[in-house]
Amino acid sequence: MHILSIETSCDETAVSVVQADGQFPNASYEILGDAIHSQVEVHTKYGGVYPALAKREHAKTLTPMLQKALEDAELLIPEQQTLDQKHIERIHTLLLHESESGMIDALIDFLQNYAKPDIALLAVTTGPGLEPALWVGVNFAKVLAYVWDIPVVPVNHMEGHVLASVFDVVKDNKLAPVSFPAVALLISGGHTELLCMDTWSSYVKIGQTQDDAVGEAFDKVARMMGLPYPGGPEISRLAQQARTANLPPFCQLPRPMLHSKDLHFSFSGLKTAVRYAIADTTLTETNKQALARDFEDAVTEVLVFKTQAALDEVGAQTLIIGGGVSANAHIRQSFHTQLQNTHPDVEIYFPNPELSTDNSVMIALAGHAQIASASNPAAAQLLKADGNKSL
Ligand code: KG4
Ligand code: ZN
Repeated sequence: MHILSIETSCDETAVSVVQADGQFPNASYEILGDAIHSQVEVHTKYGGVYPALAKREHAKTLTPMLQKALEDAELLIPEQQTLDQKHIERIHTLLLHESESGMIDALIDFLQNYAKPDIALLAVTTGPGLEPALWVGVNFAKVLAYVWDIPVVPVNHMEGHVLASVFDVVKDNKLAPVSFPAVALLISGGHTELLCMDTWSSYVKIGQTQDDAVGEAFDKVARMMGLPYPGGPEISRLAQQARTANLPPFCQLPRPMLHSKDLHFSFSGLKTAVRYAIADTTLTETNKQALARDFEDAVTEVLVFKTQAALDEVGAQTLIIGGGVSANAHIRQSFHTQLQNTHPDVEIYFPNPELSTDNSVMIALAGHAQIASASNPAAAQLLKADGNKSL
């Protein structure tokens, strides 16, 4: 089956067409079309993502992304379509809040010029994320579901990250044969959580951040150091230079909640410690490199330590690490080397680097998981964005 997936939870506007052959979790998946537009340039001057701006950008970009994804998948067939008055009115109602962006005209124009594509299922991120941004994708999916009469499933963005981590795009285009119970560590711009999985699509939260998410801490510390948004890749690059040059520490940073005897995290104190360490200092390039390394080391030590405790508590056979921060090379390396000593039998999965940060391929995978676990796709008109949706 062809799955068309839509992701607009944060600052990437993404639409994919993924062909799923077989039943979840044994299917193989071919990425036929994958269109993604990053809004980084729009947000970088503000040092973070502004929801109203993100929403407007999604509204402007979704139709072109849809067109590109379908074109790449060779499912775009030019053919005049008649949308009757009832359809046009319904589209206007569904996209009422997107009326300033030109989205309504662009989408109606698209729908009038192309035939209904060979798509069996729509999958759309309904949360968690920035609610105004999520609604654009949800309403867009509702329009497609209505005009093309295709079922639509709501997808949890975090389940997308879990499935991206076990999707082997290099070897066989299948999901890894995960042994349960598994622990999932999700580290992104909005989340830091440890989950216990007894089977697919079953998640029990066993730890989470009590304040900032780890990606947020990377971004805020980067901003304090005068680095552009998103800060994670910048800090990672500087930290690597510090390691290569074997620079001495710039400062001593705390390991928050390392010995809290639970599986929770806290990163705001670490961020404050960096603020104090650099107060009244004009950072040289070398200082920045050393500080980036000190910060990355502190974060990594806490993440690895808490995850080791979670693996013990659950008796896990598998560790799944996902979310944008899982792109970090030092974090990857540290998990591999340290778990080799403490948990040599635990299989560790990280996403392919291209699927680490937000994308819509993972939303198609999670949509496929949804139809395997839910009896019926949700009625399109009931779909709701939920910024705080949890797993
Ligand atoms: O999963 P994601 O793309 O979006 C959310 O769902 O939040 O994660 C984005 C986060 C940002 O905070 C970004 O700075 C961080 O992932 N990130 C990294 C790296 N690449 C992206 N953090 C550390 N090292 C990286 N290489
Ligand atoms: Zn994400």
